[in-house]
Amino acid sequence: MPTLKTVVPLACLALLGVGPATASAQTAHLDARVRAFLADHQNQWRDMNVPAADGQTLYDLIIEHGFTRALEVGTSTGHSGIWIAWALSKTGGKLITIEIDEGRHREALANFEAAGLSEFIDARLANAHELVPALEGPFDFVFQDADKDWYARYFEFIYPKLAPAACYVAHNVSGPGARGQREFIAALEAKPDLTTEYTSGRRSGGMSVTCRAGER
Ligand SMILES: C[S@@+](CC[C@H](N)C(=O)[O-])C[C@H]1O[C@@H](n2cnc3c(N)ncnc32)[C@H](O)[C@@H]1O
Repeated sequence: MPTLKTVVPLACLALLGVGPATASAQTAHLDARVRAFLADHQNQWRDMNVPAADGQTLYDLIIEHGFTRALEVGTSTGHSGIWIAWALSKTGGKLITIEIDEGRHREALANFEAAGLSEFIDARLANAHELVPALEGPFDFVFQDADKDWYARYFEFIYPKLAPAACYVAHNVSGPGARGQREFIAALEAKPDLTTEYTSGRRSGGMSVTCRAGER
């Protein structure tokens, strides 16, 4: 049985005043689906995934700034990707996320599908050492969460591809004194156009949130 949506063009629906109501019903439906997925899986993230508090921080940043062109380095099984893509579903954006491990990549694809977010995600199975330099950009939101000893190099590759007023977030960076992250933090702090804050707290993995002020 064809639905109203399949037989009446969207422009006609808008003229009939059906568009906004349909759009908000779709948003509410997606929100309910993502919330249910996250609730069902809240104790099942065991693949180095971010805690939910950090996922919420990523979500809030994207909504607050209206970011649309997102890149994640280190998908794992997709917990952070779900928070990022959920926010992008509201801003009209899309996420490219990169994972080197085939099993985790496959699991992430299944999780994105189950959460109803696949259309907002371009998940790549690749070595980020090779793919990141080859990506075109620009990106207005970056979440770096793969191999820590490459953080400084990822940043140097991505920095020229940052949009004006972009934010660049890195996980497991708990401040300027954090062990193993000195080179990365020095690279962030050497850029006069960027400002960095550090998140912390019992439920957070510790993140650096680096943003460039200005018009998008
Ligand atoms: C900390 S986990 C990512 C967690 C994920 N952001 C989440 O919260 O669900 C880091 C992931 O980066 C991946 N990784 C490590 N080195 C990589 C590389 N060179 N290219 C792509 N992915 C890599 C690992 O396989 C691992 O799954």
